[in-house]
Amino acid sequence: MAKQITDTCTLHNGIKMPLLGLGVYKMEDNEQAVDSIKHAVKVGYRSIDTAAIYKNETAVGKGIKESGVPREELFITTKVWNSDQGYQPTLDAFETSMKKLGLDYLDLYLIHWPVVESYKETWKAMEKLYEEGKVKAIGVCNFHQHHLEDLMKSAVIKPMVNQIELHPLLNQQELRDFCTSNEMAIEAWSPLARGRLLDHPLLVELAGKHGKTPAQMILRWDLQHGIITIPKSVTPRRIEENADLFDFELSPEEMKLIDEMNTNERTGQNPDNFHFDF
Ligand SMILES: NC(=O)c1ccc[n+]([C@@H]2O[C@H](COP(=O)([O-])OP(=O)(O)OC[C@H]3O[C@@H](n4cnc5c(N)ncnc54)[C@H](OP(=O)(O)O)[C@@H]3O)[C@@H](O)[C@H]2O)c1
Repeated sequence: MAKQITDTCTLHNGIKMPLLGLGVYKMEDNEQAVDSIKHAVKVGYRSIDTAAIYKNETAVGKGIKESGVPREELFITTKVWNSDQGYQPTLDAFETSMKKLGLDYLDLYLIHWPVVESYKETWKAMEKLYEEGKVKAIGVCNFHQHHLEDLMKSAVIKPMVNQIELHPLLNQQELRDFCTSNEMAIEAWSPLARGRLLDHPLLVELAGKHGKTPAQMILRWDLQHGIITIPKSVTPRRIEENADLFDFELSPEEMKLIDEMNTNERTGQNPDNFHFDF
């Protein structure tokens, strides 16, 4: 049971990944991202989730350096974008990301979306980066079960993480079961459904009962399910709120009630039908 902000899960290669991280999608590549990261690290976050397409890797690198916390205590994730997929383009994209981040190793490198024509070649490049010790762990995002089954036909190394849209309206139970039985950790993106869920009557009621907020109900639900979660905020008060999850516990009945909110509703694109060509 998650007890403190530095709690981790162990990936199938033995690497420990913090269960809570800061998402930085839509943060500008400037002082906003730098300040948000510094504030998050100050209040105890140790994991940052960025991507090449967020165009803020330079600011993330600056935030990490200015945080004053030793590099080895931080867990940094970035992702290869769709137009950079394929073997050599992925290796090149990795070098570009590392230069922007100003890092000499990465903790987790992810395939951003399953570009059907190229994800197998992309994965070969990810395996090479892993074998060379440039990344501590490799994984994917937005892979359905059929993508994972297909990838694993040719993969030498199984993905360590699958980062997917996951919140109470889209609890992804079947995919979670599949990943768990294949030793892949699940990481929730848009855990707060981009703010859309925060006036849901059940979450408001449970929050009132615990003297907490609806956002904290969702994030605690993630942690109690062993799901890695990466809420994004640029608001100092919310960055603190989203990490203040360790002085209460949801009962099995409350967990079940939140489980039952599922309607399979997405806020983002379905990975079988996405259109991001840029
Ligand atoms: N792999 C992928 O394809 C993928 C896709 C999407 C996202 N992601 C990752 O997942 C991270 C999180 O997802 P997300 O940014 O889409 O959505 P999210 O974390 O579900 O929601 C972020 C939104 O909620 C607001 N918010 C945060 N904490 C709050 C709180 N305690 N109370 C009220 N509002 C709150 C934020 O506002 P303020 O910032 O204004 O405070 C922001 O508008 C991203 O940043 C990114 O790192 C990955």
